Amino acid sequence: MKLQDKLKKRAALKAVDFIKSGMKIGLGTGSTVFYALEEIGKRIKTGELNNIEGIPSSDDTKRLAKKFGIKLTDFSKISRLDINIDGADEVDKKLNLIKGGGGALLREKVVFQCADLNLIIVDESKVSENLGEKWGVPVEVVPFAKDAVTPFIKKFKGSPVLRVDKNMKPAKTDQGNLLYDCKFGIIENPSSLAKKLNTIAGIVEHGIFFPRNCKVIVAENEKIFILE
Ligand code: 5RP
Repeated sequence: MKLQDKLKKRAALKAVDFIKSGMKIGLGTGSTVFYALEEIGKRIKTGELNNIEGIPSSDDTKRLAKKFGIKLTDFSKISRLDINIDGADEVDKKLNLIKGGGGALLREKVVFQCADLNLIIVDESKVSENLGEKWGVPVEVVPFAKDAVTPFIKKFKGSPVLRVDKNMKPAKTDQGNLLYDCKFGIIENPSSLAKKLNTIAGIVEHGIFFPRNCKVIVAENEKIFILE
């Protein structure tokens, strides 16, 4: 296993330690969350965890949760989650996040806002002084507005690049929407940028997340530390 994957797995296992039997949990998306899903499944199988129900943040996660034997529920049955475990693409020291590298930002944000505790699991490479140092901001757009929103993003000093899939076709989210990856350079004021993006009709959601009942579990070479 590559070092980065080992770190992802260590952060994921640490997060799973927070889960207790009977909890309702949010299931994030991505390669780091994969290790958490696998571990939750193992602990359910051994009986260490029981009566767990999860709400998946993507179709991929739904499939994996089923594979690992995690019982699923939805927001028609429960309105709060005890814990949500999710990854991130970039984290600053104030716990602002960029998410959406896996395209699941909309459902991830819905799950995030319903959790009493958000555990964000990352390897050390994701931590920055300021958001935007390493990643652009994913922006989910309804297909009708594909060309209508780009002048606004450019006005906000962003460079929107339409995300494509492995066949070089426009990538579609689970909602059938499109994604722009938008470099803004260093984002001095994430809150101001988020507010501007929120005002544009056609933009469904963006990947800037603000800390909310949040702990970020960071796996580094020799140690694990928690930003809170
Ligand atoms: C998906 C996400 C992921 O959590 C984020 O992209 C991190 O993914 P990975 O754990 O594979 O590095 O936001 O939309």
